[in-house]
This record gives sequence, C-alpha cells and structure tokens, in this order.
Amino acid sequence: MDYRNILVRTEARVGLVTLNRPRQLNALNDALMDELGAALLGFDADPAIGAIVITGGDKAFAAGADIEAMADWDCMQVQERQFITRNWETLRQVRKPVLAAVAGYAMGGGCELALGCDIVIAAESAQFALPEIKLAMLPGAGGTQRLPRAIGKAKAMDMCLSARALTAQEADRYGLVSRVVPDEQLLDAALALATRIAGFSLPALMAIKECVNRADQGALDEGILFERRALYARFASADAHEGMHAFLGKRAPNFLHR
Ligand code: HXC
Repeated sequence: MDYRNILVRTEARVGLVTLNRPRQLNALNDALMDELGAALLGFDADPAIGAIVITGGDKAFAAGADIEAMADWDCMQVQERQFITRNWETLRQVRKPVLAAVAGYAMGGGCELALGCDIVIAAESAQFALPEIKLAMLPGAGGTQRLPRAIGKAKAMDMCLSARALTAQEADRYGLVSRVVPDEQLLDAALALATRIAGFSLPALMAIKECVNRADQGALDEGILFERRALYARFASADAHEGMHAFLGKRAPNFLHR
C-alpha cells in the first residue's frame, strides 16, 4: 500500500507507525485509518515483527476524528458507509502487543486510539481528553467503554461530560498510561520497551494479550456496539452539525437544545 498519511518502518523486531498529518494535528480521516489498518495487519502477519508502536508528532498524537471530513455526513451515510468506524475493528484484531507513544494532544478519537492499544507511554507534554461533548458528539471508538475500565467511572464521567483534559501525570496517576517520560525520550523509551517485549516468546505474548483482554471482552463487545449506534445517531442531530461547523468556523457553537 502507498502510505500518504502515516510513516512506517521497522526497528529490529518492532514495527513503528507514525501518524503523519501534522497540519491537521493528525486528525483521523478514513484514508489515514485505512492506512493504519493495513500497516497493523501487515506487521501482525510478519513473522519478523514481535511488537508494534504507534506514535504521532510532537504537538499531537492525534486530535481526534477529522471534523472537517465528517461535518456534513448524515446518519444514514455514516451507517451505510461505516465512515469513521470501519477501521477501528482492525486494531482489535491485532494479536501482537501494540504500544502507543503519546506526545501532545490525544483527543477524541486520538485518545480512543491510545486506549485501544495495549500499553500507553506518555511524554510529559501529553494531554488526554474526550471533548466530543463540545461538538454535541460522543466518543464513538470505544472511549465510553474503555475509559471507565481504565480510570473508573467517576473520572471517566468527568472527562466525557465536561471535556476535562488530563495531563500526562494525571493520566499516569489514574491508570490510563503505564509510564511518563520526558518528551525527548518518548520514542526511544517506547522502542526500548517494545524491543524488550518483542524478545519474548510471541505465542506466549499473544496468549497473555488475549487473556488480559478476555477479562471484560464479552461486555466490551456489547458496549462498543451500543456506543457505535449512539454515535451514528448523533449525525441525525442539528446540534452535532452545528458543533462541528462552529469548530471549523472558529466560533462558539449555538446549540438548539441546551
Ligand atoms: C479536523 C482538526 C482537528 C480535528 C485540529 N484540526 N483538530 N481538523 N479534525 N479533530 C485542525 C484545525 O482546524 C487547524 O486547521 C489545525 O488542525 C490546527 O488546529 P488548531 O485548533 O489551530 O490548534 P490549537 O489552537 O493548538 O488547538 C489544538 C486543539 C484543537 C486543542 C487540539 O485543534 C481542538 O480542539 N481540536 C479538536 C479536538 C476535538 O474536538 N476532537 C474530537 C473530534 S470528534 P487550520 O486549517 O485552521 O490550520 C471525535 C469523535 C470520534 O474524535 C468518533 C469515532 C472515531
């Protein structure tokens, strides 16, 4: 595949994917997600690879789903074409360990991408938020399900309902990330950890990942389906379109239903 929105390389037994739409703060459009899915499946199938790292840029891991792309979609288009959601299952199919190395903004779908990885390493600059409420949208890529599992209901509700952002240190304290490192050490730390993991027995790693995920998999499957339907329904809402267009127009939203 010809990659335009990500960079892909290998370091020893580690596959590295760098999200690369810096001008849009790595906003996750379908093209980027298609490429990410292809890269992940490629590394998963490659016997020379034992672990995968996903990272972004210095300013943003990813600022969420691409608001410009989705601002005019309606509910039926989203359902029929599975816009924004079609590639998120791919991440869940990957059997090898996947690490997120996060600097800067991890917002909305960007935060959900990190939450969907097996281990999150944060740079000190990292900020985690599910701010979809500001757009009259909702976190629709597993965030409403994975965040409470990661940090508990109280903190998750606070973040989802008020758009509160967590600093890297808060995210570490609450259990969203596994370690925090200085920004300049982020990639080296992530690659070193991934290399250490990739040195272990791959079948054992995959078995452990499957078991840990099985801890709440049944309920998670149900929850993700429920969340996705709720996300699609948001596209039937005038407030959601107003919220997205207000963001793009750099103005405050004027919601009909407050
Ligand atoms: C499209 C985006 C974007 C996004 C930023 N940009 N986030 N474009 N989709 N999610 C664009 C801006 O329009 C701008 O383009 C450029 O990137 C730089 O962004 P600025 O806002 O100028 O930067 P800054 O002032 O530093 O603010 C950074 C920010 C802010 C706080 C991260 O960009 C922001 O709030 N972004 C939106 C975050 C968000 O709401 N995410 C959730 C999306 S919904 P121009 O052309 O003006 O330079 C979502 C739902 C997931 O993720 C559902 C399932 C997948």
